[in-house]
Amino acid sequence: MRQGGRLDGKVALITGAASGVHGELMGFGGATARLFTRERARVVLTDINDERGRKTAEEIRAGGGEATYVHLDVTDEQDWTIAIQTAVSAYGKLDILVNNAGTGARFNVEDTTEELWDSQMDVHAKGAFLGTKLAIPEMRKIGGGSIVNISSIYGIVGSPGSTAYHAAKGAIRLFTKSAAIQYTKENIRVNSVHPGFADTPMTNRGFQDAERLQWVESRTPMGRTGSANEIAYGILYLASDESSFVTGSELVIDGGLTAQ
Ligand code: NAI
Repeated sequence: MRQGGRLDGKVALITGAASGVHGELMGFGGATARLFTRERARVVLTDINDERGRKTAEEIRAGGGEATYVHLDVTDEQDWTIAIQTAVSAYGKLDILVNNAGTGARFNVEDTTEELWDSQMDVHAKGAFLGTKLAIPEMRKIGGGSIVNISSIYGIVGSPGSTAYHAAKGAIRLFTKSAAIQYTKENIRVNSVHPGFADTPMTNRGFQDAERLQWVESRTPMGRTGSANEIAYGILYLASDESSFVTGSELVIDGGLTAQ
């Protein structure tokens, strides 16, 4: 398990990290938690799906990694305060925050209710904002840190639906640049990751629909969907000191989709 070392000595908090159970389809957060611990980070996994989150953390520990699970609804400031305090009391500090939690919503403008709009903005844009706001004081105490915000190719280009999702992911993209500029002098780097279509618990049900899968694959120059691990390696780069000159940037991992 502990073969790497690219995050040796670092403490990371990852949101939406429940889906990392062995033998099941992994989400970006679960795959990232597993990769980070293999690279010797100590990781606080968080999610609202407590059962899967606890199981993922237990499995990581059983494999020799250092991980703990904490309930964190990213739309709730109180939950954020407790989760960050837990990271600091368990592992002494916080170096890395990965704002990954999210949900999909494929509706066009007229079918998007005000409630749906608000919930998409809350889980993506507000979630990343609250996490960043509350992580910065801890990163300042240790002289810096790295924040990785998971946006999407849908935060860069449009599509026939997903109205509120596009708006919320676009908000994350620009929030990232704003925070990057504000905190660069304090050695806190903030970057966004823009995955293309990847097979995870969030998308898998849709990909069971052959027509939908064909649409996705035909739009992707590589002709296939990505995996959670292929995204996790990009997150690892931005989280680690290997990206020490990178801030406010957008890492697109999409099989060529937005190059067209
Ligand atoms: P996933 O379903 O495995 O991960 C999302 C996690 O967020 C779930 O574990 C869920 O319980 C959690 N979550 C939902 N609402 C939450 C809340 N209020 N507070 C805390 N946790 C909450 O799916 P996936 O695909 O790994 O998604 C991770 C991120 O990547 C999301 O932000 C998603 O929008 C984004 N993304 C996914 C793409 C894909 O094709 N799978 C493409 C581009 C971006």
